Amino acid sequence: VVADSTTVAEERLAETRAFGKLILFGEHFVVYKVPAYVGAVAAYTDCAMELEETTEGDAASPELEIVDNRPAVPDYKVKKFDEAKEAINLVFKHLPMEKPCKIKLTFGGDLCCASGIGASAAQVVSLARAIKQTVPKYSNMTEDEINAAGYEGEKGYHGTPSGIDNTAATFGGLLKFQRTDGEPIFEKKKIKDPIKIVYASTGLTSSTTEVVGDVRAKKEKDPEWFDGLMKEYCALAEKGEAAMEEGDLTTLGKLMDENHVLLQKLTVSCKELDDLVVAARAAGAIGAKMSGTGRGGLMLALTPTDKVQDAVAEALEKAGAPQVWKTSFHTNNTRDF
Ligand code: MEV
Repeated sequence: VVADSTTVAEERLAETRAFGKLILFGEHFVVYKVPAYVGAVAAYTDCAMELEETTEGDAASPELEIVDNRPAVPDYKVKKFDEAKEAINLVFKHLPMEKPCKIKLTFGGDLCCASGIGASAAQVVSLARAIKQTVPKYSNMTEDEINAAGYEGEKGYHGTPSGIDNTAATFGGLLKFQRTDGEPIFEKKKIKDPIKIVYASTGLTSSTTEVVGDVRAKKEKDPEWFDGLMKEYCALAEKGEAAMEEGDLTTLGKLMDENHVLLQKLTVSCKELDDLVVAARAAGAIGAKMSGTGRGGLMLALTPTDKVQDAVAEALEKAGAPQVWKTSFHTNNTRDF
């Protein structure tokens, strides 16, 4: 009986999983409604929810106890604490409870929280899944509705999120994503073979709201400059999509390098990211770029073989990356329940 109830609890928790992500092409530009490409990583956040009804209080803002057991790079949880709280509250505003209640949320999973990996999106999407599981009123939520709830939560972290992170957290796999004036457009991309990568943290936690806000200010100050970069990006992304589909890793890598240059020009890279990108290439990566918000956060390297993957991971550690991960983009970590 004990074994059975443990299994049931594990299965319930597994249902709330939401993936981390890495952007292959198009961070920042995606905010301005051009396509970007994102791959979910296999690591996930999950959420256990315990609910107790109370006699007093507001159903739209339940009394919350949050236990955060997610692994994280140093500083991440402290720096993101207020934004995370706001994000969680926004999800409950979007999905109000039926009655006043006390709720205990326990976040866990194997996704190491670091700027750039979509940890905030994974957290709010796992929360939306836990709400669906726990509250009868929400038991019929569709995946699109889970994604929409995640998007509401993401506004706690970003001023104007494109929605790419919560969409990757919800659906997994490799996605082409485009923000629009209405619902986002996204499609699952098929690739012939998994794409081996290494990603590494600079150890610096950045604020997406601040960096996206600064890019917006620069864009408004000099629209021509921004349009020029955007055009270059769009041409590059189109070629990147073709390379992905054809499994042409050499071209894919070259385009990742080019995307990194555009992000440098956009001023969202930084010395720590540039140094890691250079170290990865020197160790045999066939392409490398920063990924996500930038000005800290993560970089990503394309490593075609196990041998190159090991060499690049080692080189990144030597270059001072406090955390390095080996993984691959593939299309079978999607969820369809
Ligand atoms: C963050 O992972 C990606 C950004 O493009 C912001 C967004 O799309 O919401 C920087």
